[in-house]
Parts: sequence; C-alpha cells; structure tokens
Amino acid sequence: MIRDALILAIDQGTTSTRAMIFDGFGQPIASAQKELDQHYPGDGLVEHEAEDIWSDTLAVCRRALAQVAVDKVLAVGITNQRETAVLWERASGRPLHRAIVWQDRRGAPLCQRLVAEGHEEMIRQRTGLVVDSYFSATKLAWLLDTLPGAREQAARGELCFGTVESFLVFRLTGGALHATDATNAARTMLFNIHTQDWDDDLLALFEVPRAVLPRVVDCAGRFADTEATFFGRPLPICGLAGDQHAAMIGQLCTEPGMVKCTFGTGAFILGNTGATPLSSRNRLLTTLAYRLAGTPTYALEGSIFNAGTAIKWLRDDLGVLREASESARLAAELPDNGGVYMVPAFTGLGAPWWEPGARGAILGLSRASGRAHLARAALESVAFQTADLLAAMADDGLPDPPGLRVDGGMAANDWMLGFLAGLLERPVSRPACIETTALGAALLAGLGAGLYHGLADMASAWRDSRTFQPRMEATRRRELLAGWREAVRRVLPAG
Ligand code: G3P
Repeated sequence: MIRDALILAIDQGTTSTRAMIFDGFGQPIASAQKELDQHYPGDGLVEHEAEDIWSDTLAVCRRALAQVAVDKVLAVGITNQRETAVLWERASGRPLHRAIVWQDRRGAPLCQRLVAEGHEEMIRQRTGLVVDSYFSATKLAWLLDTLPGAREQAARGELCFGTVESFLVFRLTGGALHATDATNAARTMLFNIHTQDWDDDLLALFEVPRAVLPRVVDCAGRFADTEATFFGRPLPICGLAGDQHAAMIGQLCTEPGMVKCTFGTGAFILGNTGATPLSSRNRLLTTLAYRLAGTPTYALEGSIFNAGTAIKWLRDDLGVLREASESARLAAELPDNGGVYMVPAFTGLGAPWWEPGARGAILGLSRASGRAHLARAALESVAFQTADLLAAMADDGLPDPPGLRVDGGMAANDWMLGFLAGLLERPVSRPACIETTALGAALLAGLGAGLYHGLADMASAWRDSRTFQPRMEATRRRELLAGWREAVRRVLPAG
C-alpha cells in the first residue's frame, strides 16, 4: 500500500521548474524539468514572468504524471524559490507585474531608510531576519507604491500577494485558496515568527494591507484539491515549504543540532534548533525549519553567496577547467594548497561577515602555482565558508551537530566533502536521494495526506550513499583556518 501510493512534488526553483514523483518509501519514480527564463531589466533587477512559472509548472507536472498511473497519486507537495514576490488580481488570477526575484536589489533604498530610522532591532526581534532587500517586504512595498491604484485595490481585498508556492496554490485550485505556509511566510519580513501571524506593526511600517496577504498554514495538511481539468482528476495539495526548508525535511534533519547544507550557486546552511528560536550574535537568520500541527520548529540559517560560482568562474571565465568535476581530480593531485587561498567574494561576503563591499581575491600565488592550485583554492573556499557558518551557529547556541548532511550540485564533489569533513572534525554525509528538496516536499505531502504518522515514520526515507569521515591533523586544520582568516581579512574593506 505505502509503496503503491505516489506523491507528486513540484520544485519551482530560481532557474528551473521540476516535477518529481516519489513512491511511499521516498524513492523517485519519474521526473520532468524545464529551465525558467530570467529577466534582468536593469542593474540589480531580477524578474520572472509569473505566467512562465505557471505554464512551466503545468507542463512539467503533466510530463511527469504521463509516466505513472495518475489514479495512484495520493497527494501533491509544493516547494519553491523563497522570498520572490508575486502580486495578482484576486478575481482573474492575472499577475499585475513580473515576479520580483529574491536576488533583486530594488528594495535596498527602503532598507537603508528603515535602518536609519532605527527599525532594525524591532524587525530582527520579530522576524528573525536582518533588514535586507533579499526578503519579500520591500519588493511588495515597491509593487504597491509603483503600480497605480494598487494599494487601494489591495486594501479592498481585490489583490493577492504571495510567494511562488502561494501563487501556484491559487492557480492550481482555480482561485479557491489563497494561502502560504509558515516557512515561506517567515521569509517575507512581515511575519512574526513568535506569534506565528502577520505582524501589525510591520504591516504598518511597510504600508501593507492585511487583506492582500495569504492565510498562513502548516507545512503539512489537506489544504485543497487541484482543479480536475489540470491533471485529469483533482489531486489534494498536502505539503508546502520553501525550498531550503523542504531540503531540511528531505535530509530528515528533524532533531535539534542536525544541520543540512545545499550547495548550489551559493550555499544555504540550516541548523535545527528545535522549539527554541535562537537569536544570533553572528547575524545569522532565525527562521522556521518547518511547522507541523501548529507547532513551529526553528532553525538558524546562514547563506554563502558564492559556492558553485567559484568553480563556474574557473571553468567559464578563465577556462582553467574543462568541466566542474575536473576540480576534484586536480585538487587531489596536490599534497597541499601551496599557500594559495581564494576568497570568492564576487558579490560581497554573506554571513557571518555581511560585507557587500568586499570583493574577491586569490592570494599566496608563487611561480609554482598552477591551475590545480586555483581549483583546490576554489573548493577549499567553499569548505572554509561552510566551517565559518557552522562555527557561528555553535557560537549562537546550536546544539553540537553530529555531522553535516549535504546536497546540491557540489555535493557530488568527493574531494571537497572529504576536505570539509576534516575541517569540521565531523562526518559529512551525502544521501542516496540527492533530490532532497523535492523529496522533502513529497514527504510533507505524504504526512499531510496521512501516509505517514509523524516525522519518525519518514526517517526510513533517508539513507546515506557515502559518509566522509574527518581525517585531518589538528595542526593542519589550525594552519588552514588561520590562512583563510588572513585571506578574508585582506578582502574586507578597511575599518
Ligand atoms: O532564498 C532563495 C532560495 O530559496 C533559492 O533557492 O535553489 O531556487 O536558487 P534556489
């Protein structure tokens, strides 16, 4: 019965939209994917066509469902690029503007004003976030300010705001449900993570009428059915979570102290802190891991802006690598890094440095340095940044992590994972199912549909394919970390 039940997971990411079908044991059965067009209308501006997100979602779901018996599909789970803001008409479902993507910086002037006016601490205490245009609030404020009459229409309840999962739920249910889940709500900078409700003071600060906001629901539950016309029969939507939170579920990081890291273009590290929202001394974000049966589980989150980009830069811009996987072989050829360090601060440094003015550097070059040193320095830089974030989490009170669970493109790099394990003095595990984000959405949907009784029931869905044990001498580790710190010090703006 459990293996017979199928779950459709929709993973709507920044660069692509994917549909995956899992069986009841969390094994992938079918999938389909489509790249998403990116729009860069100006400096610091990043947009997606919301209609593309919708049509791509329908297309990939239909392609994946065509590979299975649709009558076996028990539930749908949706996970998404977080923070990206969509504003649409309630009556027609028509978007009023392109979606403003999380990377978009147009909210920066408003953030500067809020900091100058002294609102930073209040925002941090209520939302767990640093004031930054990354989050949805300034994007929504910009839409309401810029589109003629939008604020009045919003106040009259004629408009709907939502992050991408909210837009998809609205469309899939034919407008029957305007909802978001608590993990996505927690990334808007309008949601109070302690009261688990939209915060009236924040709504006043951003001049956002409550009527435009979605209802906040748990990550698992029987939320609504998709319209029968889309997939041949109605399918119940039972799981919702932002992609990094879904990856946490997919990695079964369900106990305090468990940490996952998704290595993509950048890297997102989330550590489960249980029922306690830890306030960070190191400017990490306090966020939700997930919310089930009305009970929030909290997490600390740190982001590295440039992880995979360092390797991509060596491959595409310098031509030093033919393919990304070559970096592992080159790094392994060397006995050590030869004193070469790369700080890939192409777009500034993220947590715990938060230094947008920092720029990248390669230090310690000698005539003996070659392309292997560059490859190794790039891989080491990702591990060093990960180690910095885990140290910051430990300093903030995260219970001692037993190890690190990794996924995403760079999790295929054995050399990097071995080096990381040594640096962290902890095992680093790569799961058998590398599609942890989609798996997490499927597990949440299975939970919401009653296929699993609780998180413990789902634990068998996680198996490691390989665990890298720490094998690095303490003196070596200290020398490497000291070398990295010196390299970072040299790229930070003076003062
Ligand atoms: O916070 C942004 C993050 O959710 C985007 O993830 O994988 O779509 O780039 P991804």
